[in-house]
Amino acid sequence: MTREDDLCWQNWFDQLSINDYVVIDNFLTTKELKKTIDYFQKLNKRDKFAKAAIGSSGNEHIISEIRGDYIYWLDADKDNEMIEVFDTLTLVKRMINRYCFLSLSDYEFHFAYYPSGGFYKKHLDQFSNRNNRMISMIIYLNENWKNGDGGELKIYPNNSDSKTIEPILNRCILFKSDTLLHEVLKSNKPRKSLTGWMLYQPSPLIGVTP
Ligand code: OGA
Ligand code: NI
Repeated sequence: MTREDDLCWQNWFDQLSINDYVVIDNFLTTKELKKTIDYFQKLNKRDKFAKAAIGSSGNEHIISEIRGDYIYWLDADKDNEMIEVFDTLTLVKRMINRYCFLSLSDYEFHFAYYPSGGFYKKHLDQFSNRNNRMISMIIYLNENWKNGDGGELKIYPNNSDSKTIEPILNRCILFKSDTLLHEVLKSNKPRKSLTGWMLYQPSPLIGVTP
């Protein structure tokens, strides 16, 4: 099954609706994947990553006991190297709206870099003062990931046992941001991903009452 096939999207989003998550291997095209890895590398070399914080904009705290990753927020207007990938993310948003009957209007994505020893304690991706994150989406960028390298994503679905998902190259996971508890287990190697959220409303409007 390929991304060109409507049935394929329908199948993925059925799983997402029923199980609260879906894992899709080989998600990006070869070209998209290469562009993504190259751009990640370029930003990392230029020290563009910053220690990730907890909380929503204006209310962030850096708490190293909770998460140990470094991030770079992507901007569709500036990060032109990622144009094809943004097109794909836009397609994902459209397909979720079609098959999950949501009205997503935007998304936000960052690159994440966990140095060796990095982890992210169990959490939900919605904040108490900001609830517009509907679907979390992660694409792993780790070449040659092996058993024992750690850094697995552990998820805690409501209706089934916890599951451990290895962050292997070009594996994508989508899950419901408000319901699926998850954590990143300690990574024994540097761990890379493209991580983001499909949003119910555009980011800048959030925080404005009501
Ligand atoms: C997050 C997160 C999981 C992962 O950034 O909120 O939970 O596997 N990431 O990188
Ligand atoms: Ni998370």
